[in-house]
Amino acid sequence: MNSLRSRLTPQSLRSRLLVTTIALLLGVGLVIGVVTTIALRHTLNGQLNTQLEEAAGRSQRLVAGDFRGGGVPRPGLPGFDADDTACATGSLPALGGPGQVDGTLYAQFVGGRVDLADTGVLEISATQACSSPLTGAQAAQLRSVAGDGQHTVDLDGLGDYRVSATTRADGSVAVTGLPLDGVNRTVLSVIAVEAGALLVGVAAAAVLGSVLIRRDLLPLRRVAATAGRVSELQLDRGDVGLEDRVPLQDTDENTEVGRVGLALNRMLDHVSSALEARHASELQVRQFVADASHELRTPLAAIRGYSELTRRSRDAVPPDVLHAMGRVESEAVRMTGLVEDLLLLARLDAGRPLERRPVDLTMIVLDAVSDAQVAGRDHTWRLDLPDEVVEVVGDQGRLHQVLTNLLANARTHTPPGTTVTVGIRAEGGAAHLDVVDDGPGIPPQTLPHVFERFARGDSSRSREAGSTGLGLAIVDAVVASHHGAVSVQSTPGRTAFRVTLPTA
Ligand SMILES: Nc1ncnc2c1ncn2[C@@H]1O[C@H](COP(=O)(O)OP(=O)(O)OP(=O)(O)O)[C@@H](O)[C@H]1O
Ligand SMILES: [Mg+2]
Repeated sequence: MNSLRSRLTPQSLRSRLLVTTIALLLGVGLVIGVVTTIALRHTLNGQLNTQLEEAAGRSQRLVAGDFRGGGVPRPGLPGFDADDTACATGSLPALGGPGQVDGTLYAQFVGGRVDLADTGVLEISATQACSSPLTGAQAAQLRSVAGDGQHTVDLDGLGDYRVSATTRADGSVAVTGLPLDGVNRTVLSVIAVEAGALLVGVAAAAVLGSVLIRRDLLPLRRVAATAGRVSELQLDRGDVGLEDRVPLQDTDENTEVGRVGLALNRMLDHVSSALEARHASELQVRQFVADASHELRTPLAAIRGYSELTRRSRDAVPPDVLHAMGRVESEAVRMTGLVEDLLLLARLDAGRPLERRPVDLTMIVLDAVSDAQVAGRDHTWRLDLPDEVVEVVGDQGRLHQVLTNLLANARTHTPPGTTVTVGIRAEGGAAHLDVVDDGPGIPPQTLPHVFERFARGDSSRSREAGSTGLGLAIVDAVVASHHGAVSVQSTPGRTAFRVTLPTA
């Protein structure tokens, strides 16, 4: 029901305005038409009633004068010959006097029955005026008109008549009538003219209105276009540069649209400064992380160096000190890795340009898998490579790191005996790099966030592996900076990472 209504109601403001205007115009036109027609009809009927009374008076006088001549003398009628007796119907005194008009009807009832000899309708032509008799049916219809005074009656073959009846002293009733079709025709032609004018007016208003409304709504369109362009901007990261504003001509405070435009511009100003502030603080944090990571590298290298030196010292070192030094060294190694990861992420975030050289993906896979094989002897490593070389353009070191991270995950987050398959497929301008393992899978609560920073599954293996949760975040950032995409599907028994990169 609602959908039907919404389908029938025009959606755009423009069509709604147009439909409303036309409906109002039609309504006003109809009301004016109906009122004028009723008033016109009323006036014409009043005139006819006066004429009828005059005609009835004439009839009475003519009948009283007992005038019975041949034919119906009509002096002054063009081409009328007073001696013309061609009238077959004889003569009716009531219709035979001057002033009576074409179509005048006269009837006489004696004792409730129509006196057909004294009943007829006046017919005036160019050459003669005579009366023609009424039919029995017409007479009967006349008789059915009750009492004295004026009435309207529909006579078969003659149409509507306005009649005036008078009862004479001798009890006979005289009825004089005038045809109503003159009035009806006038009213109908006025209705036709009004309807035609209304239709033409409405059509013209529709065309003109459509043009004017379109012109008046143009500023609204420009405001909407500005809002549309802004909504397409990616506001969530980086330097947005929100320069777009509603044109000055559409920000006039005296118009409704102008106020909307003005408000939108103010809002854009606020959003723009908020985004600039956010970008500045992002830059600051990034710079801080990069600086901190960079600064940490040297002391960490020193810690590693000294702990290694102590461990390898030829002097006798107590076993607990040796153990402590071993721990210091391994934690320093872990921290160095973490610092390197943070530095890399900070640089990728800053949009540092990467190297762009043709890179042989197959070679990277072979290298990375043979490294992984050494590190993970408990796992089974398989290759699924195409015969031809697959090349992409990018930074060889970073792409190597992507694969290393994925393989490290497949090694550290799965139990011994897991099979890991690395495959490459070139397909329609893109290279797909797949790393699939048949391990226990990524915990469902971790899966939606695996590519976020510091997101890691809280399994004992993850803790054992000393993982930090930056591996996949780096994969994501490196692949994104190569204009590629990474995705993951994981169920117990099958975890598949797919890296898609545009081929050279
Ligand atoms: N192949 C996999 N099988 C099962 N779980 C995985 C696999 N790969 C990733 N995960 C889960 O996703 C989490 C995030 O991985 P990510 O590489 O980002 O971090 P990490 O391996 O924990 O730490 P890091 O790589 O920084 O040392 C992991 O902690 C692990 O729970
Ligand atoms: Mg990892």
